[in-house]
Amino acid sequence: MEKQGERVQQQRVVMVVYPFHGHISPMIHLATFLHSKGFSITIVHPQFNSPDPSSHPEFTFLAIPDKLLESGVSNWNFTGIALTLNRNCAAPLQNCVEQMLLQNPDENIVGIIYDTVMFFAQSVADHLKVPGISVRTSAAATILAFSVFPSPHGEGYISFQDYISGDGIQDPQSFSIKQLLASLPENPTNSTELRIALTRETKKASAIIVNTMDFLEREALAKIREQFSPSIFTIGPLHKLAPTGSASRLKEDSSCISWLNKQAPKSVVYVSFGSLAAMDEEDLVNTAWGLANSDQPFLWVVRPGSVRGSEWIEYLPKTFHERVGERGNIVRWAPQKKVLEHSAVGAFWSHCGWNSTLESISEGVPLLCKPLFGDQMLNSRYICNIWKVGLELEKGKIAEAPWQHGRDLRQHPKRLTVA
Ligand code: UDX
Repeated sequence: MEKQGERVQQQRVVMVVYPFHGHISPMIHLATFLHSKGFSITIVHPQFNSPDPSSHPEFTFLAIPDKLLESGVSNWNFTGIALTLNRNCAAPLQNCVEQMLLQNPDENIVGIIYDTVMFFAQSVADHLKVPGISVRTSAAATILAFSVFPSPHGEGYISFQDYISGDGIQDPQSFSIKQLLASLPENPTNSTELRIALTRETKKASAIIVNTMDFLEREALAKIREQFSPSIFTIGPLHKLAPTGSASRLKEDSSCISWLNKQAPKSVVYVSFGSLAAMDEEDLVNTAWGLANSDQPFLWVVRPGSVRGSEWIEYLPKTFHERVGERGNIVRWAPQKKVLEHSAVGAFWSHCGWNSTLESISEGVPLLCKPLFGDQMLNSRYICNIWKVGLELEKGKIAEAPWQHGRDLRQHPKRLTVA
């Protein structure tokens, strides 16, 4: 029992986020979960793209200098941003945690939990002699996929160790996740430096937490336990473990839920390409006509500024609006998890970001996959070829949506074909 005058030590967790919505969001869910277990939470983030602290007053948010502006890296160069943050943020993070310890002697920092991409945090954890825990916000298989490289002889892949030592070409057949590796971008060399560093540093973590479920990725997880660390824990889907409000600075348009309430069960195609992807005018217009010609009700998220050269949907012709009328609803940002839970939604035309993938399969909504970059190709491969809960749209072509005329979309997801 606590004696009078005795000080109770607060247990604090420091969480370091990678400043993009698809990465911040699962970390906020994890923070919410840890907070519910009695931990105090400090979220450390770079100045760039900082999360909205007012949406989570229960946490302390601290910005650290990132020198991204001075580095001249563009906002869309994700590899460059990741490398620059890792170069610039270790000393500020260490300084920040040391200040916290000085200012709050009653607190015990029990660990630093960081997005895998912010791997510089591991060296700070090592220096402070606290556990450093790496959180993979994407599929576990990305740990393996990022650690293999195209063979210098032009055939197959070589493993991380072989790449580093420059010998011992490995037969790609020896990877039982070959199917997934086949989904790697054809020329990933521009990210080689990042992938090497990520792989090396992930091996140093005290533990790895992944926003996934064992039954989704058994094979990949077994390989990671063998090759990386036995201390790998699956904790997904985080949005179900600890539901919480959005940390996005984009305001959710909840009016689309009232619109969904008026639609027939499982009739609506929900369309969203995530928080980062951009499209040009032609993509926008082709997508629009694909939806118009489907004769299916649709709810489409077009983020402001995501269509190059325009503010929002100015490029959509009047004839499109006349044709779809009330059947189509276009919003700037939707309450996506609520949308996918809604009984009117029958399919999700998605870019296959990992969060969207987990959110969709959690609600049993089949996917039409249009992977655009990075891990999205791998996720699409999982969805279409391994779990078989979706179809991939042929590259460069837009769905003609042959499931027409208000049919129940969930009954025959495998029968959908793409023009
Ligand atoms: C990026 C990468 O594209 C993805 O592959 C990687 O796994 C994470 O980072 P992003 O484009 O943000 O992802 O997509 P995704 O991972 O699907 O995350 C998008 C999040 O935004 C989801 O949680 C989704 O619910 C939310 N969202 C999206 C909304 O809340 N409203 C919207 O209108 C659109």
